[in-house]
Amino acid sequence: MSNLSTETVLSVHHWNDTLFSFKTTRNDGLRFENGQFVMIGLEVNGKPLMRAYSVASPNYEEHLEFFSIKVQNGPLTSRLQHLKPGDPIMISRKPTGTLVLHDLNPGKHLYLLSTGTGLAPFMSVIQDPETYERFDKVVLIHGVRWTSELAYADFITNELPNNEFFGEAVREKLIYYPTVTREPFRNQGRLTDLIVNGKLAADIGLPQMNPETDRAMLCGSPAMLDDTCKILDELGFKVSPRIGEPGDYVIERAFVEK
Ligand code: A2P
Repeated sequence: MSNLSTETVLSVHHWNDTLFSFKTTRNDGLRFENGQFVMIGLEVNGKPLMRAYSVASPNYEEHLEFFSIKVQNGPLTSRLQHLKPGDPIMISRKPTGTLVLHDLNPGKHLYLLSTGTGLAPFMSVIQDPETYERFDKVVLIHGVRWTSELAYADFITNELPNNEFFGEAVREKLIYYPTVTREPFRNQGRLTDLIVNGKLAADIGLPQMNPETDRAMLCGSPAMLDDTCKILDELGFKVSPRIGEPGDYVIERAFVEK
């Protein structure tokens, strides 16, 4: 398969029992847009077993980073979770995906709405300087069940604002809003409820979401996408119908493996 390259795992980080991330080498020929995904996988019984994974690292970095759940019986993640530095991994050279800045109409505020591993593409988007050139405020919402699932929280809060090139824009524009549903935390509840009941807007000090000024990217479970799309549609937002046709918001299913 000529569109697959064999890369090497550089490091692995286990966030908790159910989530991990890993870095790999990047093929010289791989070009992608922040927010896009690639197929990655392992050879199983002599055949490539591939799944879609959003690239969590920005496109100017030398390595690639991926964020994954661990599913005990998942055909791929049951194997991926045992990756060690030095192991080979297959990565396709054909990135694609809908969560790209150029498919959003111009606007003032960008909402990145994620649950679970749906955070991954937004880790790439919030490390893209263009994100801050295009928007006055960038609101990253990460909804999870448990606080231990708030992966990358330390990076977002403590490292990104000190980025030597665009740290200042991050400090001025990025609002990180983690929210937890199944144990006490400073922000609690599903992001859908927090949008509808006005709690999110009140907490971050912005007006209720509206299609005049706001744009959104959504990445989460099918149920989260359904519910969030309904809310945005009712508020008058227009979804981007396909890649290359801009809208007020774009959506992508988080690639959760059963
Ligand atoms: P909850 O704990 O109330 O189910 P999951 O791991 O199931 O994908 O869930 C990740 C986070 O997304 C959890 O906080 C979960 O809340 C929340 N969630 C699940 N379904 C929806 C939905 N339809 N809309 C918004 N948030 C959801």
